[in-house]
Amino acid sequence: MDRRQFEKIRSVFDRSGIALTLSDLTRPDQPLVLANPKFLSMTGYPEAEILGRNCRFLQRDGDNLEERAEIRQAMAAGREVQAVLRNFRRDGSEFNNLLFLHPIGPPGAPTHYLGSQFILRMAWGSEPQAMAHVDTLLHDMTRIGVQAERLEMEQRRHLAEATAVLIRAWERRR
Ligand SMILES: Cc1cc2nc3c(=O)[nH]c(=O)nc-3n(C[C@H](O)[C@H](O)[C@H](O)COP(=O)(O)O)c2cc1C
Repeated sequence: MDRRQFEKIRSVFDRSGIALTLSDLTRPDQPLVLANPKFLSMTGYPEAEILGRNCRFLQRDGDNLEERAEIRQAMAAGREVQAVLRNFRRDGSEFNNLLFLHPIGPPGAPTHYLGSQFILRMAWGSEPQAMAHVDTLLHDMTRIGVQAERLEMEQRRHLAEATAVLIRAWERRR
């Protein structure tokens, strides 16, 4: 990724109302290279404590094993993926993180992943807010240029459906 694209991503991240992160897959253990203000306020971490670390620092050891395996598989194949993960803020408080991951770079061989985090708050009522999150996410990705504008509506339908299925399955498990 060249400097210009990185700065473009940073400017979209800075202005976004949703949590956004960027990981570099070309570096060992896929460290975070960008985290926006919304992500910092959601998790309670200052930027200096998290850049350069893999985002699994929000988890506790031994948690989310199935979801992590799914994420590793999808990322190895360069695919998008969504999962609900048990995470902890800097102050130790717990939250359920609906995580969206999207590849950036050549198809099938991404150099980066964009992550977006949404807090699932209770066993009901999260779905409409999650749908609004999907809209903002796709809009931001279109502005960055990783999502083609002409495909945005199609991708929206797909991502909204996948997200609804995921939330309903999560609600049943609780
Ligand atoms: C851009 C990006 C953002 C991520 N954000 C989170 C997050 O907010 N919370 C989390 O638990 N995992 C997050 N992850 C997933 C972990 O970094 C890691 O990929 C996952 O735990 C599976 O790998 P592991 O089994 O080696 O930990 C993110 C990954 C990427 C690439």
